Amino acid sequence: MKLNITVLPGDGIGPEVTAQAVKSLKAIASEFGHNFRFKYALMGAEAIDATGSPLPKETLALCKSSDAILFGAIGDPKYDNDPSAKIRPEQGLLELRKSLGLFANIRPVKAYDNLIDKSPLKRENIEGTDISIYRELTGGIYFGEKKLSEDGNTASDLCEYSRMEISRIAHLAFKAAQSRKKKVTLVDKANVLESSRLWRKVVTEIGETYPDVNLEFLFVDNAAMQLILNPKQFDVILTENMFGDIISDEASVIGGSIGLLASASIGKKYALFEPIHGSFPQAKNKDIANPIASILSAAMLLEHFGLVKEAKIIQKAVEKSMELAITTPDLNTSNIQVTTTNVGDFIEDYILHPKDSDLN
Ligand code: IPM
Ligand code: MN
Repeated sequence: MKLNITVLPGDGIGPEVTAQAVKSLKAIASEFGHNFRFKYALMGAEAIDATGSPLPKETLALCKSSDAILFGAIGDPKYDNDPSAKIRPEQGLLELRKSLGLFANIRPVKAYDNLIDKSPLKRENIEGTDISIYRELTGGIYFGEKKLSEDGNTASDLCEYSRMEISRIAHLAFKAAQSRKKKVTLVDKANVLESSRLWRKVVTEIGETYPDVNLEFLFVDNAAMQLILNPKQFDVILTENMFGDIISDEASVIGGSIGLLASASIGKKYALFEPIHGSFPQAKNKDIANPIASILSAAMLLEHFGLVKEAKIIQKAVEKSMELAITTPDLNTSNIQVTTTNVGDFIEDYILHPKDSDLN
């Protein structure tokens, strides 16, 4: 298969982890005879420094002309503590999601057998957890009208959703549940928010057209608690933009490190693959960041194009790295230092030298 992939390494650890994901994709291409072409572009704080914009026109144009986008991380501390900053790195990612219509962000959460003891949560509560979070990505409070009064003393962000925005992601969530454990949990705050009440109404109606899927509702405060107490009760979680952002970081505690969580951001026409973690500026250029989230995002990219066997090999390689404790310091308590590059090299080598059992 021929694929043109735009790589946006972004800020902080973005370039380091993305380099490992690209290495995996190149190994897959050579092992399976695919033709993957990579083009790089600027985004985030790096792009602001170079061009004044967090999403330069050339970057957006390149993304629009490619089959898929692999994104690293965004954010720089110099903007975080400056409330008056007019231009922020994060705007680049939000604008990109909006411009490409990437309305569904899919975030798988798993408890890996070999890492169970890395989670601060009890083994018996998390063992076997397998959740797919469907986070709405181009609406809600992230994109509603923002206001700051002239005297600077009052501010507001509008949380707005339309039936269309809710239903298109709801259908994806129900379809995903059909090939999983047939359960969708809508996470909202319908006891307080009008927008949440619309979510419940629309999702209930759509649920009736998927009679084989069990639909449940949970208020987001309770969901935050249930995710830690009993994550095994969940299959597909469907939720709006900001709730999805918050509960997915929380859910990463189940796996033992936020450095493990990959995601796919899907629209009608475009698809972008990104780790859920941030730019981790303290680790920049230290070769210590966990590249697994980025590598698993690359596997999601392959899956998106129907390259299921190829995606499986990457997932197996990742599990093998965990079994052999080839893990970066966020998961490694031993004295033997394993670097970002070491993990990437292991995955690459595994792909290039597959065992017969991996190809079935
Ligand atoms: C994420 C990130 C982004 C978000 C930020 C960087 C804008 O936290 O992808 O989860 O809030 O969506
Ligand atoms: Mn986030």
